[in-house]
Amino acid sequence: MSEIIGETDRGGEALFDDSVLRSLDLSRCKLVARGQGYPYLSDSLRARPLERGDFANGYLSLLSQLTRVGDYPREKFEAHFDRMRALPGVYYTVVVEDVDGGRRVVGTATLVMELKFIRGAATRGRLEELVVDSEYRNLHLGSYLLELVTELCRGLGAYKMTLDCKPEVEGFYSKYGYTNEGQRYLTQRFHD
Ligand SMILES: CC(C)(COP(=O)(O)OP(=O)(O)OC[C@H]1O[C@@H](n2cnc3c(N)ncnc32)[C@H](O)[C@@H]1OP(=O)(O)O)[C@@H](O)C(=O)NCCC(=O)NCCS
Repeated sequence: MSEIIGETDRGGEALFDDSVLRSLDLSRCKLVARGQGYPYLSDSLRARPLERGDFANGYLSLLSQLTRVGDYPREKFEAHFDRMRALPGVYYTVVVEDVDGGRRVVGTATLVMELKFIRGAATRGRLEELVVDSEYRNLHLGSYLLELVTELCRGLGAYKMTLDCKPEVEGFYSKYGYTNEGQRYLTQRFHD
């Protein structure tokens, strides 16, 4: 599975240092154990950190397959990106890009590391915005991304990783070690 992790050295434009991904121990991953890592993906697919230039590579249109994104200019995307990059150790957005015939982001997952004063000053990981382009589903890209960010979270020393999920996707997560421990997630919405 690690073979598809691409190197990125594009002038410090990545959200985080991609050596963090390349040095991960993926031996616990189900896809690796089943031999379903690299063979399930084409040579043109590469996993890497989100880059500042991914506004032009379809990152937001991919996210719009998950939820409402809104129409905003590149400058706003870049300003947000810069704020996230200025908080090292907190935001880890991984993308899978298809480089065949250009650069197109076709999958993504974000790990957010939340620092706590409980449990001996522990860190908890949260999975956000896991989405695979509709043309690339059922190729094990989603599970690849999930296993990758889960192992990243473990490797960064978190005591647990959690996610909010729609009921219809629970079966997907349960295949990869996530269980419903019965917590109730409440919301007060300030705007759409
Ligand atoms: C959910 C999603 C990320 C799955 O990505 P994917 O690349 O199509 O899924 P994979 O090919 O990696 O599937 C891995 C396994 O989970 C199964 N699976 C996929 N979606 C599933 C679902 N909704 N419920 C139950 N099992 C599912 C697959 O059949 C496969 O099983 P197998 O390993 O036994 O063959 C993708 O469908 C998606 O982007 N959906 C829209 C956005 C979304 O709902 N994101 C989750 C937010 S909570």
